[in-house]
Amino acid sequence: MHKTILSVRNLSASYGPIRALRGVSLEVREGETVAVVGANGAGKTSLMRAISGILPLSGGSASFDGIEIGKARAHQLARAGMLHVPEGRGTLQSMRVKENLQLAWEIRPTDVTLEQALEQVYARFPRLRERSEQLAGNLSGGEQQMLAVARAIINRPRLLLLDEPSMGLSPLFTNEVFKALAEIRDAGVSILIVEQNVSKALQLAHRAMVLTHGEITLEGPARELAADARVMASYMGQEA
Ligand SMILES: Nc1ncnc2c1ncn2[C@@H]1O[C@H](COP(=O)(O)OP(=O)(O)OP(=O)(O)O)[C@@H](O)[C@H]1O
Ligand SMILES: [Mg+2]
Repeated sequence: MHKTILSVRNLSASYGPIRALRGVSLEVREGETVAVVGANGAGKTSLMRAISGILPLSGGSASFDGIEIGKARAHQLARAGMLHVPEGRGTLQSMRVKENLQLAWEIRPTDVTLEQALEQVYARFPRLRERSEQLAGNLSGGEQQMLAVARAIINRPRLLLLDEPSMGLSPLFTNEVFKALAEIRDAGVSILIVEQNVSKALQLAHRAMVLTHGEITLEGPARELAADARVMASYMGQEA
């Protein structure tokens, strides 16, 4: 198997007295897709924010490709190829669709020109080509999610952190977004995804884990977890 690109060891994080993460350990290897599923409030977004260096750690450690998270600046991690698509999408509302894509492209130098990169993205999401001059803030929710995923593709990340990319999307847009994510996975990009759509997340992932009250309570190959009734039970907030 390939080398570990993301390593999270015994990680804890709190908001004042609220302990959102309690000793979480996980690894993502190069080319691997790992899904974290859990009920509302389980700590999924906190995990993503801690890994991307936004939420300070109160215990444990995490590293991306040998760079210690917590000591590195967020932009350093981004330049090294870790890209976070936050909950609620993180598009720049007052900028045009095309400008959003250009900024994402500029973060990481590649051998592809902007025109070529835009062409690849527009071929995958024709709706974004039609809307390229429109302000991102005026896109529909589903279109904004497409733009968030398009920003990830154009950035050519090595590790993609995705926080509920299906949130608020119709089944049709959800399928579009997950089709694009499967292509990113198949191109060899490592992905860590947290999702409310358990079946989509488990279809996409190689391995998966369940987060319950800030702790990993179950983990295994995604295919096995998809057949495990305890996954649904803990997702619904019941004790498995
Ligand atoms: N900024 C904050 N201040 C205080 N408490 C917070 C803050 N953000 C999250 N929390 C609390 O931390 C816990 C974990 O929240 P988090 O957002 O990580 O959950 P989640 O699994 O992403 O939930 P959801 O599925 O609803 O997005 C919750 O109890 C939440 O109320
Ligand atoms: Mg969340």
